Amino acid sequence: MDILIIGSGGREYSIGLALSKDQAVNKLYFAPGNGATDALGKNIDITDYQQLVGFAKQNSIDLTIVGPETPLVEGVVDIFQSDGLVIFGPGKAAARLEGSKVYMKNFLAKYSIPTAQYIQTSSAKEALSFIQTLKTPIVVKADGLCAGKGVIIAQSIDEANDAVVKMLSGESFGDAGSKVIIEEYLDGYELSMFAICDGKDFILLPAAQDHKRLKNNDEGPNTGGMGAYAPTPLAHDELYEKVKKRIIRPTLDGMNQEKAPFRGVLFIGIMVVENEPITLEFNVRFGDPECEVLMPLMKTPASELFYKAATGDLHNLHVEFEDKYAVGVVIASANYPYSTSIPAEIVVDKIVHKEIADNTHISYAGVKKEDDILYATGGRVLVCVGMGASIKEAKDRAYMLCGQVHFAGKKFRTDIAYQAL
Ligand SMILES: Nc1ncnc2c1ncn2[C@@H]1O[C@H](COP(=O)(O)OP(=O)(O)O)[C@@H](O)[C@H]1O
Ligand SMILES: [Mg+2]
Repeated sequence: MDILIIGSGGREYSIGLALSKDQAVNKLYFAPGNGATDALGKNIDITDYQQLVGFAKQNSIDLTIVGPETPLVEGVVDIFQSDGLVIFGPGKAAARLEGSKVYMKNFLAKYSIPTAQYIQTSSAKEALSFIQTLKTPIVVKADGLCAGKGVIIAQSIDEANDAVVKMLSGESFGDAGSKVIIEEYLDGYELSMFAICDGKDFILLPAAQDHKRLKNNDEGPNTGGMGAYAPTPLAHDELYEKVKKRIIRPTLDGMNQEKAPFRGVLFIGIMVVENEPITLEFNVRFGDPECEVLMPLMKTPASELFYKAATGDLHNLHVEFEDKYAVGVVIASANYPYSTSIPAEIVVDKIVHKEIADNTHISYAGVKKEDDILYATGGRVLVCVGMGASIKEAKDRAYMLCGQVHFAGKKFRTDIAYQAL
């Protein structure tokens, strides 16, 4: 099978890494990829969707996999499908589950799927009067895509009002803030669950936990995610069953009724409150860094899983997972998440310890290659992944790998997976 992966992050690298070890995979392409993906396949410098269709046809691509949300929300899947190409990801209509929080919340309400009480509005007056009725903290969300920055957890009524006014005026997020959601604050613990869907059926992957804050003990500013591990013991069989029955099944059925069948990765942000899973949000693609710990847990060839999901054939697949744990620690550049950092050469020490070499790997994200030297280009640079028979073992191995990776200004959290230990 010849496969094209759209995207350039650690998520796409980790999908590519799994596919590069997959017997069924012949050629692998990344559009545009990063400085390390060209060691797994070939990077191609095309971003225009129609030109990508041309590339896929000329090169007889059997399957295209879309990593990030932006091309999905912009409709890349519909463009590929209208040319008869097989592509894994939701169409534009279904991608609205991530592209518009107002659409998502209204969908959840319509199909009685558990979520926080809310109102949606574009009127500051209406928002402010609802805010008066809530206890603090109060959650204010911009409707559209805001690269993970569109949610304010306000500690006072004044702060909530201020967030609403700045969103609605366009000051905070432009058009993405022209509608807002105000919702009740849920007090519990957070999990990420991922269902691979083919429009009718789904396969639920082991639950993962991300670490959004920059610093240990979940302090400091929010980031794209500083580390993840899976499976998390915070999810047990009963919780998986509740998520399947109360959230995923009605979502797939509801999306069919909306004439927007959901194919692709349904990423469910869950807050567990008194043992009950409440939907915080949907995303329509893998989380990054969750993908980096989930891909190495797949025993079933990734090409088969994604191909069958893309072609509506999941009922013919029995998926198996490794009986192991994976922990991923993100190493970021000096100025992340505030500003860019100057490129810094990456040096990875030779790993002499066989146990570490066999049970760890790096997923590369913010890197470029020049004259065969890899440079950290800022942001989240790479993820050190450790595998093990326990979370502790996987974590220790991941951190040993962190000690082997060097570049100027490298920084990482030292407490990834602490909630499970
Ligand atoms: N109703 C809520 N109660 C408590 N925390 C929330 C609530 N909604 C969101 N959050 C917190 O804010 C984070 C971001 O919100 P989310 O809805 O996932 O939006 P996005 O990922 O698009 O920024 C969540 O991961 C969660 O920690
Ligand atoms: Mg989120």
